[in-house]
Amino acid sequence: MRHYDHRVHAGNAGDVWKHFLLLEAASCLLDPESSLVYAESHVGRPEYVLKAPGDWEGGIGKCWPLLPSLRTFCYFDILYELNPDSRIGINAGDLSRGSLIYPGSARLVLELAKRKGARILGEIWDIDPEVAASWRACSKSDLMTFHQGDGFAGIAEMLGRSPPGLLFVDPPYIDPKDAGLAKRLLDRACISGWIVLWWYMTDMKTISPGVYPAAVPGSGNIEGYDSGKYILEKFDLDFERIGLNGGRWKGSTVALAGSGGPRSEQVARHLHQRSKELMCIVSDAIS
Ligand SMILES: C[S@@+](CC[C@H](N)C(=O)[O-])C[C@H]1O[C@@H](n2cnc3c(N)ncnc32)[C@H](O)[C@@H]1O
Repeated sequence: MRHYDHRVHAGNAGDVWKHFLLLEAASCLLDPESSLVYAESHVGRPEYVLKAPGDWEGGIGKCWPLLPSLRTFCYFDILYELNPDSRIGINAGDLSRGSLIYPGSARLVLELAKRKGARILGEIWDIDPEVAASWRACSKSDLMTFHQGDGFAGIAEMLGRSPPGLLFVDPPYIDPKDAGLAKRLLDRACISGWIVLWWYMTDMKTISPGVYPAAVPGSGNIEGYDSGKYILEKFDLDFERIGLNGGRWKGSTVALAGSGGPRSEQVARHLHQRSKELMCIVSDAIS
């Protein structure tokens, strides 16, 4: 099996979309002085240092000059606050000379909870021993329980013993089985009352349709899996539409799933509204 290292992809166009939606969903579910159970099957590192060249130049690098006007969204505001030396009016070219701190998904959720005065009861999985070491070395490591191991099996076991909360499923798709395992986990979590965000890339730019089978290792192509009774909404982004460059990928999707109920409907409405607002700000800025 190929080894997947997110350090070379951190901050890419897909990360921008998934982290924006993840934080908006978490923001809807985090209430001051209360706790949110948060779980992640494929967590990656607590943070990344972005240096050029890197995929981030087509993702968060493209957003950087707009950061002051994007601070109304918690994801962008956290990036702004974490990088005091690289804040305003900087283009991706200037950024390449310095380095940016880019928090991974779980660290972003922790930062948001701190701002909201809420508590995260977090359980996170990653199979990579180097990722495990990065969590041990991180000052935030006591705020989440990190498990080194297979996230699909780990979360499946957790569902039987934990109250429901927010689950983020973000596999690397280097194994053709990932799409099916993710879908099965999503179904089980929804039955247990969880709200789930499931991320995948869509549409490879460079190949003709039909050249690859439905689930391609490393492709994130989950054709045939991205439907089902628990998927409430799919949030698609065509990267070029907001001036991002996803390399060989045309776009990505975050599926929101849950078994219904007021909380998941509230999250769906909120994500709709906030995505629309983001599109407006970015389209105005790049047109
Ligand atoms: C796309 S990255 C995660 C990025 C992270 N969720 C974020 O948004 O910042 C995928 C991660 O899955 C890990 N991984 C690969 N196979 C795994 C498995 N079976 N179980 C848990 N983690 C796995 C890799 O080590 C990698 O860190």
